[in-house]
Amino acid sequence: MKFFVDTADTAEIKELEATGLLDGVTTNPSLIAKSGRDFKEVIAEICAITEGDVSAEVAATDFDTIMKEAHVLGAIANNVVIKLPLTFDGLKACKQLTEEGTKTNVTLCFSANQALLAAKAGATYISPFIGRLDDIHADGLELIREIRVIYDNYGFDTEILAASIRTPNHVKDCAIIGADVATVPPATLKALVKHPLTDKGLEAFLADWAKTGQSIL
Ligand code: G3P
Repeated sequence: MKFFVDTADTAEIKELEATGLLDGVTTNPSLIAKSGRDFKEVIAEICAITEGDVSAEVAATDFDTIMKEAHVLGAIANNVVIKLPLTFDGLKACKQLTEEGTKTNVTLCFSANQALLAAKAGATYISPFIGRLDDIHADGLELIREIRVIYDNYGFDTEILAASIRTPNHVKDCAIIGADVATVPPATLKALVKHPLTDKGLEAFLADWAKTGQSIL
């Protein structure tokens, strides 16, 4: 499973990129607003940090303006992926951009039927939002399961990009189900490495090593 980080914070992206574990970045208008920075400038900076796919979301909702915005965003760098809303205009733009050879990420997916439409429109990625479904007492992981079955039934190559991930267990469950990508907030991504028994075990090993009085170097 690929790991994308869900942030527009370039310092966090640099730190995670240095681990070698990062496969890409996703942003959305809320994350851009949170960064307080110029949208196109921040996308250019992220694209220079990572060679992975970087999702940049259009702000228009009608087909013609979506296409204009997509061409502006796509010209920023060759690893920009155009993020589109799951509406008929967004899907029409998805089909057109796919025909032009541009990668797309269809976002705000909350049902398996929406994911089916995005795959038929040729989306590179579909972004089902797990956490926001869980927030309303629906089952976000069940949606990932349904999409996996449907895409496998018909051999769609659209990648399932599990989004709105809130916990390390979401990441594990997405990996078990077979999501292709998980986009994870920086803090949750960093939490994946932590285990209290790892910390405790390392502390004991280091204390015993010190007792030997030896040095490897
Ligand atoms: O980029 C989409 C996404 O991951 C949103 O997450 O936590 O705002 O529901 P969240």
